[in-house]
Amino acid sequence: MSELSAPPRVPIEELVGKLRAFPASAFDKTEEILSLLAKMPVEEVSLARYLSWNRQHYTRNLIDKTDLYELIAICWEIGQGSSVHNHRDQSCWMAAPVGKLLVENFRVEFQDIEAGKCRLRASNTLELTAANPCAVDPREPVHRVMNPREANQRAVTLHVYSRPFDTCVVYSPEQGTCGNVRLYYNTVFGKPVPSSQ
Ligand code: SIN
Repeated sequence: MSELSAPPRVPIEELVGKLRAFPASAFDKTEEILSLLAKMPVEEVSLARYLSWNRQHYTRNLIDKTDLYELIAICWEIGQGSSVHNHRDQSCWMAAPVGKLLVENFRVEFQDIEAGKCRLRASNTLELTAANPCAVDPREPVHRVMNPREANQRAVTLHVYSRPFDTCVVYSPEQGTCGNVRLYYNTVFGKPVPSSQ
């Protein structure tokens, strides 16, 4: 989409209002939420109170949470990326109000989480920008997000997870290992979580 035809940016509260108005059925398939994220790119300034930065690791900042979904802002320093991970069979949508990131998807050829063993194959890579939000493919949900060094800018992404989850499986494609990890927030509704600092 060219800059000329890009939809106007909206404050984060407007996106939250729309998400809260959706029935449960909207979160069971990818189209409706994806099209909302494409129609309502979020204004960076409205995110200011939710942003926190850490040179060691990207930060997870909770913006809104209901029984149906959680909305998180993730702050990525230049060159930061996630581990290869899944989303516990939950749906996930991502938008990038700030920056240009890469989402690398993987096919799981084999996994035995109890034994901590897996075999993954890289499949495709998508660009994640304000104009190009993504939905995680439920048939191939294992991925990692990278804010590439070449982009040379901090990035902020918005993640809608439905239903909310607080653990996931992390994979090492190189070593063929995997295991459960707990997920934490660095800030909740704009306030730092002391144990995560
Ligand atoms: C996370 O939620 O910690 C990872 C970001 C992602 O969904 O890729």
